[in-house]
Amino acid sequence: MPTKKVPKKRRVLSGVQPSGEAHLGNYLGAFRQWVALQETDDCLFCIVDQHAITGDYDPRQLPQRIFDMAVSLLAVGLDPDKCSLFVQSEVPEHTELAWLFNAVTPVGELERMTQYKDKASRLESVPAGILNYPILQAADILIYRAEAVPVGEDQLQHLELTREIARRWNARFGEFFPEPQAIVSGMGRVMGLDGQAKMSKSLGNTVGILAEAPEIWARIRTAVTDPQRVTRQDPGRPEVCNVYHLHEHFPPDVGLDDIAQQCRTARRGCVECKRILADTITREFEPFRERAAYYRERKDEVLEILAAGARRASAIARRTMAEVRSRMGLDWRVALG
Ligand code: TRP
Ligand code: SF4
Repeated sequence: MPTKKVPKKRRVLSGVQPSGEAHLGNYLGAFRQWVALQETDDCLFCIVDQHAITGDYDPRQLPQRIFDMAVSLLAVGLDPDKCSLFVQSEVPEHTELAWLFNAVTPVGELERMTQYKDKASRLESVPAGILNYPILQAADILIYRAEAVPVGEDQLQHLELTREIARRWNARFGEFFPEPQAIVSGMGRVMGLDGQAKMSKSLGNTVGILAEAPEIWARIRTAVTDPQRVTRQDPGRPEVCNVYHLHEHFPPDVGLDDIAQQCRTARRGCVECKRILADTITREFEPFRERAAYYRERKDEVLEILAAGARRASAIARRTMAEVRSRMGLDWRVALG
């Protein structure tokens, strides 16, 4: 029988911090895309607990945050039969590779990172982990020799540094790592419901993906809109309204044009406009709550999914490290013969 050649799938890796239950920003910025990519690519998705320790955190809460993030990822539709879902610390090769990447990463590049500058400026004493954070991120990606990385816009700089690290390592030790491409959703940044900062749980400007209808409504109801619509009669400008931008992410039944039109002509008030958005989000999130309830009741099943993900990831990571150690002269026993 002639063997049919199956084209090799593109390898994709992405990571998320174990921040507990995921929120709307995680969903629009990352997970919705992850769920789509698992259908077409060879995907590895990693809960990055070793990144989480670089910030302020409570060790007693970390295990539950990891678990809740895993449940959230399964809830939005990651399917363990279609992708590998695992926790970073269960594949210790990430940190080993990160250490080795220290050898080819210029401190000046790390100091240029916007995220580093933001965080460091708010701290009296800056842990080295905050500076070295992007090296571990590069290792997360390159240990699987991933070719593509779905990320939010705020991570593009870290991905550029990852490519730089790959280039420098290859130049020194021989061509081995690909230069991974970013996959950005193209929908732009998702602003918080306060219209001020990026969505984040700590800023309280978002809504959990497992929130029920009344809570979703409570959050959307207070969202900031076009400040020019002081009264119900004032015409609005959808292009400057964050609620409108959320409508773009969750296409309403009435159509986007209708939302914009009714806003510009002041025929629909903001409250009603938000009601439509809250209803659309509630409908899309509905199945998440059911799946989350299922997995929360089956802790062992979740733990086994993560273990299986780590086994598959480890097998790839071990192969990469064998080659890396060899090229860097660290397989000295073998080399000595
Ligand atoms: N730094 C990313 C964030 O804060 C999380 C992350 C860690 C990541 N490792 C990664 C994202 C590897 C993509 C690929 O969102
Ligand atoms: Fe925003 Fe809708 Fe109000 Fe227009 S009607 S300003 S789009 S909330």
